[in-house]
Amino acid sequence: MRIILLGAPGVGKGTQAKLISEHYKIPHISTGDILRGNINKRTSLGLKAKSYIEKGELVPDDLVVSIVKDRLEKEDCKAGFVLDGFPRNLYQAKTLSEILKENKCMIDKVILIDVNKAEILERISGRRFCRNCGANYHIKFNPSKLNDRCEKCGEQLLQREDDSKDVVLERLSVYSRTINPLANYYSAHGLLTKIQGNEGIENTFNRICSTLQSVYSLLV
Ligand code: AP5
Ligand code: MG
Repeated sequence: MRIILLGAPGVGKGTQAKLISEHYKIPHISTGDILRGNINKRTSLGLKAKSYIEKGELVPDDLVVSIVKDRLEKEDCKAGFVLDGFPRNLYQAKTLSEILKENKCMIDKVILIDVNKAEILERISGRRFCRNCGANYHIKFNPSKLNDRCEKCGEQLLQREDDSKDVVLERLSVYSRTINPLANYYSAHGLLTKIQGNEGIENTFNRICSTLQSVYSLLV
């Protein structure tokens, strides 16, 4: 099953993609995680992406498209994948369709998670992550049992550098400028389903699963 998760910063794309990945046994591909991993390792890709991410702007299309193209060629993507944070604009969406066409496959479902702005700001301000293993927490909604340390590896939990108020507002503004053409594109292809994401993590996951189940049963 090939799935795309769309939604504003902080709606829970990463959280839900991880659950979908575990449930359907397909890889979770997050362009944001891949870019941050490259920044940490100070690769040339990371150096190119850093200044855009710090400002809350989109990283240039050619860099992101080549990351995704390489990742989709890996063996584990043959049975499907869940894309989180890609595509971000119409150009990326059309390029993804071409890449998949070359591989003789296509997207099965696009889920747009919708959450109101006040909730988004609360989710982002309370988000904590582990730089060592990538685990994601929230101080109120999904706290670590070890407080400010990661439950999985014991590392100190951190706030993302692009989660400062000004950068978040810029990320939200970029999102509001780019989402409509993207949503219209997938809607015209009959692939888009909008899901209310204001409820808790589990309820949102149940909503997503009910949408995906009909697609899944056609594929297996
Ligand atoms: P990216 O990493 O993709 O960030 P984003 O889209 O801004 O989304 P976030 O990761 O902030 O939020 P999320 O929706 O994953 O929420 P999460 O699950 O963490 O991109 C970062 C940057 O990289 C971009 O600004 C850009 O510069 C660059 N980039 C990436 N992709 C690109 C592309 N394709 N093209 C160009 N540039 C690109 O949840 C948030 C918090 O809420 C967590 O603490 C979580 O525990 C909590 N939470 C989640 N769900 C719930 C719930 N239902 N109830 C309560 N709390 C919840
Ligand atoms: Mg994310």
